[in-house]
Amino acid sequence: MLNQLWGGGANPAIHPCGCLPAGTANIVANIYLNCNSGRILGHLACELRIYHLTPTPCKWYNGGMLLKIEDLSVSFRNDDGEVNVAAEDVNLELERGEVLGIVGESGSGKSSVSMSVARLLPSPPAFYPKGRILFDGEDTLTMPLPRLRSLRGKKIGVIFQDPMGSLSPLHRICDQLVETILLHEDMSKAAARDMALEWLGKVGIRNIPVIANAWPHELSGGMQQRVMIAMGLMLGPDLVIADEPTTALDVTVQAQVLRLMKALHRANSGVLLITHDLGVVSQMATKLAVMKDGKVIEKSNDPAAFFTAPSHPYSQSLVREARKMELEN
Ligand SMILES: Nc1ncnc2c1ncn2[C@@H]1O[C@H](COP(=O)(O)OP(=O)(O)OP(=O)(O)O)[C@@H](O)[C@H]1O
Ligand SMILES: [Mg+2]
Repeated sequence: MLNQLWGGGANPAIHPCGCLPAGTANIVANIYLNCNSGRILGHLACELRIYHLTPTPCKWYNGGMLLKIEDLSVSFRNDDGEVNVAAEDVNLELERGEVLGIVGESGSGKSSVSMSVARLLPSPPAFYPKGRILFDGEDTLTMPLPRLRSLRGKKIGVIFQDPMGSLSPLHRICDQLVETILLHEDMSKAAARDMALEWLGKVGIRNIPVIANAWPHELSGGMQQRVMIAMGLMLGPDLVIADEPTTALDVTVQAQVLRLMKALHRANSGVLLITHDLGVVSQMATKLAVMKDGKVIEKSNDPAAFFTAPSHPYSQSLVREARKMELEN
């Protein structure tokens, strides 16, 4: 009697819509010729092609949906046990190829939401009373830490507001890039170094050998931010989270850094761009969300229409202020 037991192979993820994503799974079959003996006579390794069978179109399957934040609440508990609600009932979606601009005043919860995507908030004090953050169908809030670490840097690139706070003061620039590359890519140190130097060139750093060998504090703010962009983009992440990437820079450098981000992120990646600068959103975003007091108060899939006629009174005041500043400058 021929008996086959399936096992060992990859377990394809089931997407939130309940479908099996298309793709392949490696299945290893142990073949028993005689069940009674229980002796494995051979292994049959094969590749199983899975076709998407859900009758209605599914955005995850189509390779469109990248990030879905569902009913997310983020809170912080201080040493006295008091709870500060940073974000409440946030729902956001990002598809591949989109740039979602999140705007809002200081303290409105933009960073709390965006940093939660890669679970980068210190926890405690941060905690999540409710919600899910589905990245490519997997909940980053509940996934095991090793899985999350494998995504950070490789699948989810982060460009922080404060590059000096994100670069290690103890390592030279090139070594930091090399370390990140080797964490995720199976390549020699020499190849990783070549890749790091190539990326320093891509982000517009001219004197590459000198800068590669420099310590972070020896670089200007603009140069540090370029290094952060290289760090965030060099592994070709599917999702880029840029939290106020230009706020600390002077106006001329801001424009250069934005141009770089636009040029270097992969066309089919998604970008979460957090800023309080509506000018940045109008240049970069394909859709936007306005946050106030921890809540998303307005969303638009058409930034041009939003700037012409924002709905919420708070959005109207934001647009009015931005126009006034533009005129003054
Ligand atoms: N590590 C933390 N511990 C305690 N509370 C925090 C922490 N980080 C943020 N908060 C609180 O969460 C709320 C939202 O802050 P968050 O940093 O998300 O706002 P933001 O919109 O990014 O502001 P900004 O534009 O100034 O960066 C604020 O009340 C803030 O004080
Ligand atoms: Mg912030």
